[in-house]
Amino acid sequence: HDNSNIVTSLQFYNNKSISKHRKKHIQSADIDAAVKLLLKLKVDYKQMTGQDYKAGCPPSENSVVPDNGPTADGADDEDTVNPWSVSTTNAKGVDYDKLIVRFGSSKVDKELVDRIERVSGQKPHRFLRRGIFFSHRDMHQVLDAYEKHKSFYLYTGRGPSSEAMHVGHLIPFIFTKWLQDVFDIPLVIQLTDDEKYLWKDLTLEDCHRFAVENAKDIIACGFDINKTFIFSDLDYMGSLPEFYRNVVKIQKHVTFNQVKGIFGFTDSDCIGKISFPAIQAAPSFSNSFPQIFGGRHDIQCLIPCAIDQDPYFRMTRDVAPRIGYPKPALLHSTFFPALQGAQTKMSASDANSSIFLTDTPKQIKNKVNKHAFSGGKDTVEEHRKYGGNADVDVSFMYLTFFLEDDEKLEKIRQDYTSGALLTGELKKLLIETLQPMIAGHQERRKQVTDDTVKQFMTPRPLNFNI
Ligand code: TYM
Repeated sequence: HDNSNIVTSLQFYNNKSISKHRKKHIQSADIDAAVKLLLKLKVDYKQMTGQDYKAGCPPSENSVVPDNGPTADGADDEDTVNPWSVSTTNAKGVDYDKLIVRFGSSKVDKELVDRIERVSGQKPHRFLRRGIFFSHRDMHQVLDAYEKHKSFYLYTGRGPSSEAMHVGHLIPFIFTKWLQDVFDIPLVIQLTDDEKYLWKDLTLEDCHRFAVENAKDIIACGFDINKTFIFSDLDYMGSLPEFYRNVVKIQKHVTFNQVKGIFGFTDSDCIGKISFPAIQAAPSFSNSFPQIFGGRHDIQCLIPCAIDQDPYFRMTRDVAPRIGYPKPALLHSTFFPALQGAQTKMSASDANSSIFLTDTPKQIKNKVNKHAFSGGKDTVEEHRKYGGNADVDVSFMYLTFFLEDDEKLEKIRQDYTSGALLTGELKKLLIETLQPMIAGHQERRKQVTDDTVKQFMTPRPLNFNI
């Protein structure tokens, strides 16, 4: 564009030494056009970089379009939820009901929870009872088929960016283990060491080593060795032609424009990133695992994950019918919040925001006491008088994830809200819940030998009757 007139007009408009009256008088079509163009450029800028335009500040490297799917009501898009960032200004956390509308998924309502209970014959997991797995795609279809004795398989994953996983990472794995137990079905777990190499400043060797280390934490969640296959992309892609064939099929059916729209890739992203979504999509199709499913491509896949991973699977579901495969179903969880508050998720890149699976009882106690955001009042007197706010209290939120007893949890909520329970006492309850849970995990992890990891990670048939 030749914008010189517009620029001159804008300079004129911004010049403080010219009176408002005079500006109004001289305001011309040029200025209107300039303002319109500027607004449009700002919108374009935000769409391309995912950030608000700020003069003199170039966009940061890993910028991502906050593409949260179709905005059905065209309104709120203040919550950012994508595989690289989660943030909201609301102390209660992301507005998950609005997210369901924006992503076009369905709510896990009471009817679905009751149905899972009927079909599985088991009391629903606390993550279902408490709305932690809050959203789904096609769960009724999976259950319809299961009732007709058509089985399905589970697929979940982890991006091994460091040796230490945090408590938030456990959420999908704890729930996946429950699903595996109650439905008695096979599970594949993808370790995207390739993804972490492409996105982070790490060597291939580091990423692969982290994959094996993370596999130990995943195995410590209690998965059935006869029904679980864990794989590193760096190993599996090269060893099984069927997997790579699916990757290529997916790559052929997704355009650069589409991944730009979904993930916000820009022209300066390396081509590895641009084609990576096809690799995360491929395990959603059963013929990527001929050793397990005997070459069948029609076995339905169910993916439990936190909702940040949904963009990958929106793409997968879009491409599936075009390459003749069933769409994977999904169950999405909310985020386990950062210690500092539910405005963002617990993240490994901020050590103070996280409780790691390697933390000692003392570290857990100190982190909770020092960093866990409190919904309590400033003084004991005020707290007793007005009560605390459990909706924004991180210790209470953590208890909703991990305290099994529904009645006890409700009593804590009531006592905290009335002021009978003080912040220090609530934190103590959380510390006493987390310490044995993490110590138990560490104990189970110690039992995981290199040989066990090798067995889980060897391509082999699983106990599964098609
Ligand atoms: P990653 O390693 O970022 O996360 C692993 C799993 O943990 C979930 N998650 C959380 N859940 C609750 N609260 C949190 N604070 C929290 N942080 C992370 C993620 O949603 C994920 O389910 N690209 C993926 C790896 C992957 C994958 C998959 C994940 C490959 N295939 C299939 C799920 C399903 C990744 O980097 O995940």
